[in-house]
Formats: sequence, structure tokens, C-alpha cells
Amino acid sequence: MRLIGEEIIIRDLSLKDLNDYYEYAKCEDVGPNAGWKPIPDLEICKRVLSGNIISKDVFAIALKDTNKLIGTISLYNYGIRKYNKVKSLGFSLNKDYWNHGYMTQAVKLLIAYVFGKTDCEVLEVGHHSDNFASKRVIEKCGFNYDGRLCKYKKLYNGRLVDADFYSMTREDYERMKRYE
Ligand SMILES: CC(C)(COP(=O)(O)OP(=O)(O)OC[C@H]1O[C@@H](n2cnc3c(N)ncnc32)[C@H](O)[C@@H]1OP(=O)(O)O)[C@@H](O)C(=O)NCCC(=O)NCCS
Repeated sequence: MRLIGEEIIIRDLSLKDLNDYYEYAKCEDVGPNAGWKPIPDLEICKRVLSGNIISKDVFAIALKDTNKLIGTISLYNYGIRKYNKVKSLGFSLNKDYWNHGYMTQAVKLLIAYVFGKTDCEVLEVGHHSDNFASKRVIEKCGFNYDGRLCKYKKLYNGRLVDADFYSMTREDYERMKRYE
């Protein structure tokens, strides 16, 4: 995978990303907002990164100029919808790079890839109901609101969260492209 945006690229992960991956994944403000525990040390980080490389579900978001990994974006089979042409989107970014529009760029690139290069018919995405930055990214990218699942999940730290879900169908995407 290699998708080129204005300031970022989406590419396959590599073990060379280890230090940059750890830099973002250890942060207390990143993982918990996406539902995962911050990674406590470099050794565990290497195992997580290796697993993600093998899974081929998770991609690096890197700065175009330097190739530094600043976050990840994933396409996986989550299973809320009982239909096999559905992919779920997940994303998170190094806190030092928040609010520069990078994730909006990354999500838009991945949407174009999903509907341009795969036979996926529905792309779904969700966020914890109190995650307003993620909500905003999802809205800016043109997803439609499906609804809220109350008491959706108990996080590793015991916090019980509601979650909001959104989707984009192939027809939605094609309609959006016509009006761009
Ligand atoms: C969510 C996240 C990926 C956003 O990445 P980003 O690159 O900063 O996103 P963008 O810059 O493209 O857009 C962020 C938008 O949210 C807005 N925003 C940021 N914090 C906000 C808040 N607390 N309340 C409301 N809006 C907020 C920004 O103003 C911006 O909107 P705008 O362009 O209309 O001004 C990043 O904050 C992150 O990694 N958070 C931790 C992990 C996470 O939550 N992952 C998502 C799980 S669903």
C-alpha cells in the first residue's frame, strides 16, 4: 500500500518505524481514546508492531517530507454489520501532530482507495461518544451517522463508554464525488 497525499503518505509499516511507533503509542492521550492501552515499553511495542505488520490491516501515516511515522490507520473486519463487503476504519495520531488536518487527509485517501481499488461496499467507522476530535474528522470526511450504542464497551481501565457509529456506502461515495 502506498497512497500519496498533500502532506502525508499512507504506506506499509516496517520494523524501521519502531521508535516512531513507540513515540506515539506510549502516550496516555492517544490509545485510550481509540480503545487501547498505551504501550508500556519498547519490547512490547516491537511485538505489537510486528503483529500489525503481519496482519496487513494496519498502515503507517507518515510525513511526506521525512517519512517519519506519525500515526496509523487501519482497515479491518469488525463485524457490526453481518455482510462481508464491509470494512471498518480505525485511526490514531501522535499527539504532537494533532490539529494540522493530517488525519482528515489520511481518511480521505483511504476512502478513495477502498472504493476505487477494492470491492468493499460499505466503510464504517465509530468513536467514543466523548471523542469530539474523532467525530469532527469523521464528519469532515462525509460519513453518515448511523446511531449510538449505549454502554458500548468497558475499556481496559474500567471506563464504560458509549460509541457513535457512521458509514459510507459505495453509492454515498460516488454521489459525494459527483458534487466535489
Ligand atoms: C482523533 C485524531 C486522530 C484527530 O487527528 P487530527 O490530525 O488532529 O485531525 P484533523 O486535524 O484532521 O481534524 C481535527 C478536527 O477536530 C477538531 N477538534 C479537535 N479537538 C476538538 C475538541 N475537543 N472538540 C471539538 N473539535 C475538536 C479540530 O478543530 C479539527 O476540526 P476543524 O478542521 O474543523 O477545525 C487525533 O486527535 C487522535 O489521534 N486522537 C487520539 C486517538 C483517537 O481518538 N483515535 C480515533 C479513535 S475513533
